[in-house]
Amino acid sequence: MFKDLCNYANDPIEALFKRLSDDTDPQKIDLGIGVFRDDSGKVPVMKAVRRAEQQLFERDLPKSYMSPLGNPGYCRDMEQLVLGADHPILQERRIISAQTPGAGSALRAGAEFAHGLSPESVVWVSEPVWGHQVEFFEKAGIRVRTYRYYDQLNSALQFAEMQEDLRDMRVNDLLLLHGCCHNPTGQDLNIDQWRAIADLVVKTGAVPFVDVAYQGFGAGIEEDVAGMRAFSAIVPQMLLTVSSSKSFGIYRERAGLLSVIFSPDARDPESLRRKFRDTIRQLYFMAPDHGAAIVHEIMSTPELEKLWRQELDEIRHHVITMRSALRKTIEATNPDFDASFLEMQNGMFSCLPISADEQLFMEQQFHIYMLPNARVNVAAMNTAQSETLAEAFACVRAARTASALEASG
Ligand SMILES: Cc1ncc(COP(=O)(O)O)c(C=O)c1O
Repeated sequence: MFKDLCNYANDPIEALFKRLSDDTDPQKIDLGIGVFRDDSGKVPVMKAVRRAEQQLFERDLPKSYMSPLGNPGYCRDMEQLVLGADHPILQERRIISAQTPGAGSALRAGAEFAHGLSPESVVWVSEPVWGHQVEFFEKAGIRVRTYRYYDQLNSALQFAEMQEDLRDMRVNDLLLLHGCCHNPTGQDLNIDQWRAIADLVVKTGAVPFVDVAYQGFGAGIEEDVAGMRAFSAIVPQMLLTVSSSKSFGIYRERAGLLSVIFSPDARDPESLRRKFRDTIRQLYFMAPDHGAAIVHEIMSTPELEKLWRQELDEIRHHVITMRSALRKTIEATNPDFDASFLEMQNGMFSCLPISADEQLFMEQQFHIYMLPNARVNVAAMNTAQSETLAEAFACVRAARTASALEASG
């Protein structure tokens, strides 16, 4: 069975990590993987997480199976954290949730669930998109279409183009949106833009699929989801995924949420719940509990929740400081370049306005590693690294000017 498989194409992200690990330069800079690093380069574990683990350990809890819908306490916590406790969806109980092994599995399971109900639906994803999302949908059998979202060369949202493309959505097509801190661009919609997209969803009959993976990394825990809260109060139905990987810093523990928000006229919510549960069971049986138990312990212990909020605020301030520092160093080394987009965008990522070849040049000459679309993780950077990045960017732009001059004779 296994002997004949050859030349299986490598995933570009895996390939990047291989090049990074093979690079022996002690100064190499990893701006690829989406984790927060403190100034010393460590991926810290939050104190609230450690204390919650200690409390759980001391309570000597059972380790028996849970349902495919996972940890119900975690689900309630996440629903409230993302939507707000008084959101009409929660008041009207129009939501069915599962705790999943991270939002990656939630995206995959949500795609499978939607495809099972509506095999003709396509999914609309932003251009550019976080590449794994495309795979999750394609592997569920869903055709992927793109909508224009971000002009990388001019570092600008393409809202008019986005609306124009989305007017082609059909009834039951899925519309993938990032709840905040868009990956890979860091470019978010403002609240009016969220409302305008909600109107389009209502007009076309599309089903939004909102992915919230970075709550607390942009403007604040509540502020980051204000747009998606307003949006979800307008649209009649929706799929929602939430990741606890970044917001709680528990990446490898694999805790996430998948919710189906159904319309008030849904005929049989109990059937939806059963199909939802069976879809999950058939895909991966059930999720691990440790990460979800940690989050639930934090959210149900007032001092721990307070501590967690403080720690997440500190992380956010660090990210914002790094965004300003990078803008300053880039503008200092490139006086004719406006890098204000770095301060206006949100969360871990922004894309540099450079080509794939220029990105490779930075990798080979400066040992700076970024994800496709020149996505840099600003939250993994320290001041010295931001200076190297600015210098590399200046070199790329100088080479660009030189070759333009040469071409013009
Ligand atoms: C937009 C987005 N959604 C979902 C995920 C998946 O997160 P996890 O599976 O770690 O919860 C990520 C991770 O990078 C992401 O960027």
